[in-house]
Amino acid sequence: MTTIAIPGSVTRDTLAAELQEARERTLLLLTPLSDDDLRAQHDPLMSPILWDLGHIAHFEELWLTRNLDGPIEFVEMPGLYNPFEHPRSERGRLALPGLEHCRRVMEEIRRQVLEGLATIDLDSPKPLLNGGYVYRMVLQHEYQHNETILQTLQLKQGNPYSPAVRWDVPPQPHFDEGQPAGMTRFPGGLVEIGTDDRSVAYDNERARHQIALEPFWIDVNPVTNAEYERFVAAGGYTRREYWSDAGWRWVQESGAHAPKYWTRVDGAWVTRSMDRIGRVEPTHPVSHVCYYEAEAFARFAGKRLPTEFEWEAAASWDPQAGTARAYPWGDEVVTRTLANVDQLTFGTAPVGSYRSNMSAIGCYGMIGDVWEWTTSDFLPYPGFESFPYPEYSEAFFGSEYKVLRGGSWATRPGAIRNTFRNWDYAIRRQIFSGFRCARDA
Ligand code: AVJ
Ligand code: FE
Repeated sequence: MTTIAIPGSVTRDTLAAELQEARERTLLLLTPLSDDDLRAQHDPLMSPILWDLGHIAHFEELWLTRNLDGPIEFVEMPGLYNPFEHPRSERGRLALPGLEHCRRVMEEIRRQVLEGLATIDLDSPKPLLNGGYVYRMVLQHEYQHNETILQTLQLKQGNPYSPAVRWDVPPQPHFDEGQPAGMTRFPGGLVEIGTDDRSVAYDNERARHQIALEPFWIDVNPVTNAEYERFVAAGGYTRREYWSDAGWRWVQESGAHAPKYWTRVDGAWVTRSMDRIGRVEPTHPVSHVCYYEAEAFARFAGKRLPTEFEWEAAASWDPQAGTARAYPWGDEVVTRTLANVDQLTFGTAPVGSYRSNMSAIGCYGMIGDVWEWTTSDFLPYPGFESFPYPEYSEAFFGSEYKVLRGGSWATRPGAIRNTFRNWDYAIRRQIFSGFRCARDA
């Protein structure tokens, strides 16, 4: 049975502490930024950071004050911070209030939210309130916008982002770059996918259902920079045979010849992660590749990408026990010592750095470091019911989006688990995205 591990039972105090912690992190990320950095639209794909900030606040106001205990009034607050009224590419032209004003608004909203929290019934039979679901939804929204902000900060040109606090990754032995760890076999059979949890999971993770999988092989580690460099060096970006039709169109149109942020300096690949510039690290997972690049590499390597179900089975399923785990290592909630998550490492780690970050079948690093592309379109599971609003998941179902799994270094622990489904266009690579390959057994 898949359970999402939650430390202890939910109390008002826990939720208040989590709300405060989320806000402290958001503000910590912003401390090194100038007013210009906050207001500028650094890329047409991303919002000005001030917009993310106001949007975080007004989403919280909507769900934790106005929609809290009555009929759902709106699904996004009308006006400036409504994502549907203002497409990302146009948000740079909005008259956004400055940081000081925005912070006062955030504090006032938070004051009202805590007032509401003091009287709310967390044992209410209403699914929005039961177990504090709506609070966890709002928390995850802030966490997810943190990652969006980090994508923006990585894109920022000129004066690079210099973090206020930075954590080291564990100085542990990693896999020898000359000797890839290879693949591990999933035996196939009936597995359980998704969850019935209603305390934290999104609607798109439900319902838990059984599927039959053929046996397959899957990479022990995500594909490393060293492996990806061999594809680049072999002329991967100029060889039609590795690319799908859509992928080849993307290469032609984009002119891409390496992952985003890679540049060639004196015969070597150099990359930038925020304010750190250096040689592409051979033992780190490749990052900032789009779906088509992942697909082409897999073909070059004589492999393929996994489906999201294969990915989830490799991460969660214990074939011996016939049970699913909430995280690869078990049901213990992810922390920054278990996996490269929670943002403040500000980059990837050598594969295998986190020794406990291993699934039952022996896959490392499925949670953290880089999101992993899968071949699956973002579609509803059998028994899907939109909850609490269609604009989170349902509006995006269809073949336009590919599912990514596992979270990245920029993902907060509360916004990742084995069943979590992310999605984006196949051409996107400003996201912290890599992949691992699979093969039929
Ligand atoms: C789940 C990351 C695709 O950023 O569009 C934020 C998350 N939804 N606000 C997105 C989200 C509404 C969403 N992704
Ligand atoms: Fe949002």
